[in-house]
Amino acid sequence: MSSVKVGLLGLGTVGAGTVNLLQRNNDEIARRAGRGIKVICAAARHLDRPRACPTEGIRLTTDPYEVVDDPETEIIVELLGGDEPARELVLRAMSNGKHVVTANKALVAIHGNEIFAHAKECGVTVAFEAAVAGGIPIIKAIREGLTGNRIEWLAGIINGTSNFILTEMYYEGREFADVLAEAQRLGYAEADPSFDVEGIDAAHKLTILASIAFGIPLQFGKVYVEGITHVTREDVEYAQQLGYRIKHLGLCRQTEEGIELRVHPTLLPERQLLANVDGVMNAVMVMGDAVGPTLYYGAGAGAEPTASAVVADLVDVVREFNLEPESRVPYLAFQATALSDVPVLPMESVETAYYLRLEVLDQPGVLADITRILSENGISIEAILQKEPAPGAEHVPVILLTHRVFERNMNRAQEQMEALDAVQGRIIRIRQEQLR
Ligand code: HSE
Repeated sequence: MSSVKVGLLGLGTVGAGTVNLLQRNNDEIARRAGRGIKVICAAARHLDRPRACPTEGIRLTTDPYEVVDDPETEIIVELLGGDEPARELVLRAMSNGKHVVTANKALVAIHGNEIFAHAKECGVTVAFEAAVAGGIPIIKAIREGLTGNRIEWLAGIINGTSNFILTEMYYEGREFADVLAEAQRLGYAEADPSFDVEGIDAAHKLTILASIAFGIPLQFGKVYVEGITHVTREDVEYAQQLGYRIKHLGLCRQTEEGIELRVHPTLLPERQLLANVDGVMNAVMVMGDAVGPTLYYGAGAGAEPTASAVVADLVDVVREFNLEPESRVPYLAFQATALSDVPVLPMESVETAYYLRLEVLDQPGVLADITRILSENGISIEAILQKEPAPGAEHVPVILLTHRVFERNMNRAQEQMEALDAVQGRIIRIRQEQLR
């Protein structure tokens, strides 16, 4: 039987990785899919650039519409990233009767509901394993492997760049900007690295994971998003002294009131497995009611790790060629007609523990005022640490760990503490999770 013909949108790092992988493992892939899979055309921004893959037999063009309108291609692999023109190209490819594989997390998180509906209308399928955590087959694991479970929560290190920066700050005491520049050089960071360090990239991925875990529509706009730009070396060090590591987590949890959907730096106990996921690696921990905690670890970015997920999706699509759309695994794990309208909770209604760092005047009564405010707001203290003042400084850092409390109480307490004359500037606040 002839090979399935594929058109690529984008021939950068992941595009070249996909071409290489399809060529290198050609025989095994054909044995698994039932047919060979071959890239016949690709759109790239510049035709004269050196490529990290052979391009013989691949028709190159700068016009992506040529690829999606090519009558020969059966599957389009979208690797452009971003919102438009990726959305328009994907919708057009489907209207042309082509199946779509995409690694574009922003596209799925923001336009996924529209894209799935259009795929149904066109009788084609769309696959997006590479959009979350690169080479880790986390979508398949939750959507299929854990499908007998009620998912209680999941927490993931899903932005390699942020994890790389926090790891270097922890082990080497390096400065934020210096490590970010290295992540960009290594090709991990997004085209706009603020997407990494401001938490947006992780929020795209969490949106997708939460929908698959809980069977809710994709709701990127409802994710609480905080990046790592305000995490300092001092906080990394103080957290360490208290037995914690600071990690950038995407976290969603099903509660009786609704769903928590949040991305932010988080203190994790240093013995917790997730706390030891270092460098650019990703990991997602999923708690199912039957299976208990499960952990998925691997490369979240890079040419071949991401291509590994792209090729897995290509094989799935080819295997499904003869299936009716109704018989396919639902995109969000739950049948499209059975999605739940359970609300996403506002942050004020989220309950978590906190790390607080205050700069205070070292004089009698200051700690008493602080503990009084915390107590009046129903906040109980787990640990307290007072550091030496910096040479010549009037204020000393005081670090507090609290027990779990609703965020609305903490907001009120923070405002009252910041209003004290003895407290200088803004209080640094980082959430803490045990993930039990
Ligand atoms: N910029 C992303 C990261 C790449 O650092 O994880 C993979 O989505």
